[in-house]
Amino acid sequence: MVSFEHDIKPLFREDDRDAMDFVFDLWNYDDVRANADNILERIKDGSMPCDEEWPQERIELLERWIQEGMPA
Ligand code: HEM
Repeated sequence: MVSFEHDIKPLFREDDRDAMDFVFDLWNYDDVRANADNILERIKDGSMPCDEEWPQERIELLERWIQEGMPA
């Protein structure tokens, strides 16, 4: 099972968290869950993070977590 604490939270750098804290907290389960569609869309279209694109395997992990109901 893919979990937020074990698998997803570590994907977000401290810089990501700091850059995005005007919208949501990427290290907070409830925030990421509530904004998951928006987050996935921006990562998939390559516009976020602002300085690099995620490798495909990391995108797939995030997608799998969402499909599995976003376990904490
Ligand atoms: C994996 C890490 C990141 C994710 C998932 C992410 C996600 C997002 C999302 C979903 C939005 C749209 C927010 C809205 O709907 O209002 C957004 C906007 C924005 N993000 Fe990020 N972000 C990440 C990292 C970063 C980094 C590293 C920077 C720059 C240092 C950055 C700068 C911005 C800025 C300036 C905006 C507002 C302008 C825009 O919508 O393009 N983000 N981000």
